[in-house]
Amino acid sequence: PAAKQIKIRDGAANRNTRVKVFGWVNRLRVQGKDMMFIVLRDGSGFLQCVLTNRLCHTYDALTLTLESTVALYGELKEVPEGKTAPGGHELIVDYWEVVSKAPGGDDAVTNILNSESDPSIKYHQRHLVIRGDTASSVLKVRSRVMRAFRDHFDSAGYYEVTPPCMVQTQVEGGSTLFSFNYYGENAYLTQSSQLYLETCLPSMGAVYTISESYRAEKSNTRRHLSEYSHCEAEIPFISFTDLLDGIENMVKDVVNRVWAEPETRAMIEELNPGFKPITDEPFLRMRYEDAIKTLSFGDDIPESPERFMTDTIGKPILLTHFPGPIKAFYMPPTEEDPRVTESVDLLMPGVGEIVGGSMRIWDYDTLLAAYKREGLDPAPYYWYLDQRKYGTCPHGGFGLGVERFLAWLTNRFTVRGLLPAPACF
Ligand code: 4AD
Ligand code: MG
Repeated sequence: PAAKQIKIRDGAANRNTRVKVFGWVNRLRVQGKDMMFIVLRDGSGFLQCVLTNRLCHTYDALTLTLESTVALYGELKEVPEGKTAPGGHELIVDYWEVVSKAPGGDDAVTNILNSESDPSIKYHQRHLVIRGDTASSVLKVRSRVMRAFRDHFDSAGYYEVTPPCMVQTQVEGGSTLFSFNYYGENAYLTQSSQLYLETCLPSMGAVYTISESYRAEKSNTRRHLSEYSHCEAEIPFISFTDLLDGIENMVKDVVNRVWAEPETRAMIEELNPGFKPITDEPFLRMRYEDAIKTLSFGDDIPESPERFMTDTIGKPILLTHFPGPIKAFYMPPTEEDPRVTESVDLLMPGVGEIVGGSMRIWDYDTLLAAYKREGLDPAPYYWYLDQRKYGTCPHGGFGLGVERFLAWLTNRFTVRGLLPAPACF
C-alpha cells in the first residue's frame, strides 16, 4: 500500500496509517537476532521504530551505524500500556532503505560526541556536536526565542529594520572594532545597529532589529563572542522611566511567550531544571552609585564582581545612572547630577549584563561637544548629527545580547554553545 511521507512531529495525526519517514539513526539497539530498535531523528522530533525478522537479517541491517540516513515505512501504532516512546507511539516497520551509511568504528560520530568534554574537540567538531540532544534543544529554543522577540515587538507596533553590518562609524569605542578593507577604504564590522535605528525613527516610529554585531574583545570569557546576535530597539518621545519599563516588559513578555509553548517549555525545563518564568514582581532598580559602594565612584564594574552581586541578590537588576566617562559618547547626563548618565544595564543571575541601553543626547551642540570630548572625528557621523538638526526629539533604546539571554534561560555556562558555529577567540 501507498505510504504518506510525514515529519515525526506529525505522528499523532497519522496513527494507524502507513507512513514513510526519513531521518538520521539517533539510537540503535539490537535485541536478539530478530529484533532491532531505531530511534529516528528528523529535526522535528524523535521516533521509535521497530524492525523484526527478515528486516533485521539484511546486510544493511547488520552493518547499520548511528547517524546513517534511512527511509522507514510502516504503520504508526500507539505503544501498549507500560511502555514509553516519544509521542506515545512507535513505527512498526514493514520496509526500509538506507539513504547513506555513516562510518562506524574509529570514525563514528559517537566517538566524537563522546569526547564532548574536551573543549578543543567540542569546537572543531561543532558541526557534529550540534547533532547531540542537548545542543539540538538549545538551538531549537533559540529559534523560538528569536520568534518571541519579533512577536513581542510586532505586537507592540514596532517595525523591523535591516541595518548594515559594514559601516564606517564606531558606536561602543574604538578598542573593540574589527576593521577591514572596503575597496581601498577603511571600514568596520558593526558593533551595534543603534545609530541606524535612530535614523529610522522619523519614518517608522519605534523600530527594532535582530542583527549580528561584532566585537574584537580578545578576552576568552564565558560571555563574550566576536560575532553575536544583537536584539536592539529604539523608541521616540519617551522618558528614561519609559525606557526601563520597556526593557523589563520585553524580557518578561518574551519569557512568557516561550513558556506558553508546550514544546519549548519542555526543552527549557530539561535544560534548566527548576526554572521559573518571571512573575509580576518588578525588577530591582538600583543606581550604579549604590551598587559600587565597595569600589570607588567612576570604576566600571568588572565582570566578576558584577556577577557576584547579581548572584547574591539572585534576581534581575536594572542597574542605572552610570558615570559618563565609563559610558558611550551618545549617553546624556541627568539633569540632577551631570556626573551620571541616563543609562541602564540589565543584569541576570548566572550571566550578569544581558542588556545595555540609554537615552540619547538629542541636542545638536551637546552631541558635537561629546565627539570632541571623546576625540572622535564627527565627519563620518554627519548623518547621525542630521538627526539632531531635522526635527530632533527625546528618544532612547537598548540592545540585548541574544546569546546571553539564552545562556540565562537555558542555564548554559558559556555563550558559545548558543550558536551553531560560534566565532570565538
Ligand atoms: O552594552 P552594549 O555594548 O550596548 C550597545 O551596543 C548599545 N549600542 C545598544 C543599544 O543601546 N542599542 O551591548 C549591548 C548588549 C550587552 O548588554 C550584551 O548582552 C551584548 O550586547 N554584548 C555581547 N554579547 C556577546 N558577546 C559580546 N562580545 C558582547 N558585547 C555586547
Ligand atoms: Mg554594555
